[in-house]
Amino acid sequence: MPQSRTTRHLVLVGMMGSGKSSVGRALAARSGAPYIDTDAAIEGRMRKTVSALFAEWGEARFREFEREVLAGVLADERPAILSTGGGVVVLPENRAALRASGYIVYLRASPEVLYQRLKRDTSRPLLQKPDPLQVLRDLETARKAYYEEADTIVDVSTMRPRVVAEEIWKRIPESVRCGLESRLEREPGRTSPP
Ligand code: S3P
Repeated sequence: MPQSRTTRHLVLVGMMGSGKSSVGRALAARSGAPYIDTDAAIEGRMRKTVSALFAEWGEARFREFEREVLAGVLADERPAILSTGGGVVVLPENRAALRASGYIVYLRASPEVLYQRLKRDTSRPLLQKPDPLQVLRDLETARKAYYEEADTIVDVSTMRPRVVAEEIWKRIPESVRCGLESRLEREPGRTSPP
């Protein structure tokens, strides 16, 4: 898909457990661009975990706040690498905002693989259910078409984060790659991502 002039951020989307954070950090280390995790940004602003916010607010209000945080992060003119919460694609406004300023990469893995990675995890409120594998299958079915609107799709079932990062780096349009790398030149004090 042709990239517009405003495409500047590199955005990772995909289900919980697909490795967005590890891959995002590896890409940030490689490029020198800052790394932003939308869940971490939400937790930092509210000084509460995502689990606590789900418990206190419920999912709908969490999504509203997630939308605001995402819009703020994307509005920054300075290119960044973003990993997003798995549910970010559900709101059409988020998908439009991502499309307007980001090169979007979908990290795809099967629900079975994700389940193996997450079966002992207690930090994902949506999976604290009697049958988390079925939850993952249902979420994937509901979101698949949205994830597939990405500019590129990388199958991450078997690759390590560093290898996934290298593969993504090769696929990014040159204009986006240059913008991400230029953060080091423009901000010479920056030696590593924050
Ligand atoms: C969610 C994914 C989580 C987090 C919240 C809801 C989802 O982020 O935003 O638990 O709806 O898929 P990760 O994808 O980073 O785990």
